[in-house]
Amino acid sequence: MTKTATDYNNELPIGVFDSGVGGLTVLKALMRRLPGERFLYLGDCARLPYGTKSPQTVTRYALQAASVLASRGVKLMVIACNTASAIGLDAVRAAHPGIPVVGVVEPGAQAACKASRSGRIAVIATESTIRGRAYHRAITAIRPDAQVDGHACSLFVSLAEEGWHTGEIAEAVAMRYLDPIFNDAHAPDTLVLGCTHFPLLKQAIGNVINPEAAIVDSAGTTAQAVHGLVHDLGMGATEGHGGIRFLTTDDAARFARTGQGFLGRSIPEDDVRLVDL
Ligand code: DGL
Repeated sequence: MTKTATDYNNELPIGVFDSGVGGLTVLKALMRRLPGERFLYLGDCARLPYGTKSPQTVTRYALQAASVLASRGVKLMVIACNTASAIGLDAVRAAHPGIPVVGVVEPGAQAACKASRSGRIAVIATESTIRGRAYHRAITAIRPDAQVDGHACSLFVSLAEEGWHTGEIAEAVAMRYLDPIFNDAHAPDTLVLGCTHFPLLKQAIGNVINPEAAIVDSAGTTAQAVHGLVHDLGMGATEGHGGIRFLTTDDAARFARTGQGFLGRSIPEDDVRLVDL
């Protein structure tokens, strides 16, 4: 049965999960858009990367992460991982019918369709996201004439984790992946960063592709979608304290250290709890 506004506990946090710290780029956009909300973020760092795993494994991991958030009490869930959204969104929704669940693929597809004039859109993401063609389906559902090309760029994940966001090495890798896509008479006019880690490499990516091309990611449009849903369902926090708690499946100190670059602010180690899925 569909819930009504009064069925939700507005003071519960919004749950956000990702395979690691990458989803903090989405959390950053959510916090900016919904400053009065509390957030509970789970990074499944022990099992990262999801992007090279089979659909069965990614779905199982996504269901386990969602269960941990649901058991702690969240009013809405955001799957801030492109791979888990691309593969596990329907399963998570089916497992938690009482909690609205938002993925990042559809908002990313909306941003791409809005930005593209020619309809030629390139999507870069992890191997599993590209294999599952979720962006292809989401973009052509909005714009049936779009020509969508997907490319796995797995090394970008390691570069972002390592903190090598700009400079010679980041640009050499970007060149290797992206030059064949953009050095073409029918080059796309829009590039979708279909992975939580890729926004950190935006500058290096921008330096090697056609400067006219639009680079979009799903963080901003996901935050917009969540904001709209919170409003439509009447579930906005009334106490307006904000605040975030973090859960990780691996070393809390490492989560705090690597996460701050993605969140754009420091993460006190004491705010991070270790959990087992
Ligand atoms: N969070 C993943 C994504 O957005 C990238 C890292 C991983 O492979 O787990 O697809």
